[in-house]
Amino acid sequence: MHSFSAKYSQFVMPDHINVVGTLFGGQMIAWVDLAAAKVSHRLLKGTDVDGAVTRTIEQVEFKEPVYLGDWVNFTAKVVDIGTTSYKIEVEAYAEGPNSEPRLACVATVVMVSVKKDNNGKYHKMPHGKSL
Ligand SMILES: CC(C)(COP(=O)(O)OP(=O)(O)OC[C@H]1O[C@@H](n2cnc3c(N)ncnc32)[C@H](O)[C@@H]1OP(=O)(O)O)[C@@H](O)C(=O)NCCC(=O)NCCS
Repeated sequence: MHSFSAKYSQFVMPDHINVVGTLFGGQMIAWVDLAAAKVSHRLLKGTDVDGAVTRTIEQVEFKEPVYLGDWVNFTAKVVDIGTTSYKIEVEAYAEGPNSEPRLACVATVVMVSVKKDNNGKYHKMPHGKSL
């Protein structure tokens, strides 16, 4: 059985902060999408598809606030695979200068593998992968 996973990290800078002084949720979701894109890149290596697009980002839960100067360490894991789609679970652990890593956000991302046609438009295409 294959297992596809990836790690990804981001450092929280002043531009990422919302009006209550914590990490902006939309920024966190963008990073979740990138963590999913990294494991997607690994999954699709050696296949005939041109890449993948995000179809859904579901069950996003912000469990703990994240602060300026924290590192956010993401783990992304493929948990289910269909014909053109696959489901990725992402966990984000925030790590402050004086605190242990804490689970700050979880989300499920569904991506769909695509191929570019002669007009430059992307269409879904089977990836041929399995778990
Ligand atoms: C992704 C896209 C190419 C899919 O094209 P489509 O012809 O509409 O595809 P379908 O609706 O048949 O779905 C394709 C796959 O996604 C799955 N899917 C569709 N909607 C879903 C949902 N809400 N939840 C989970 N899976 C879903 C389908 O079951 C199918 O999976 P399978 O092939 O493994 O059985 C098209 O919807 C698209 O371009 N969306 C925009 C993507 C985008 O711009 N993302 C943001 C930037 S990356």
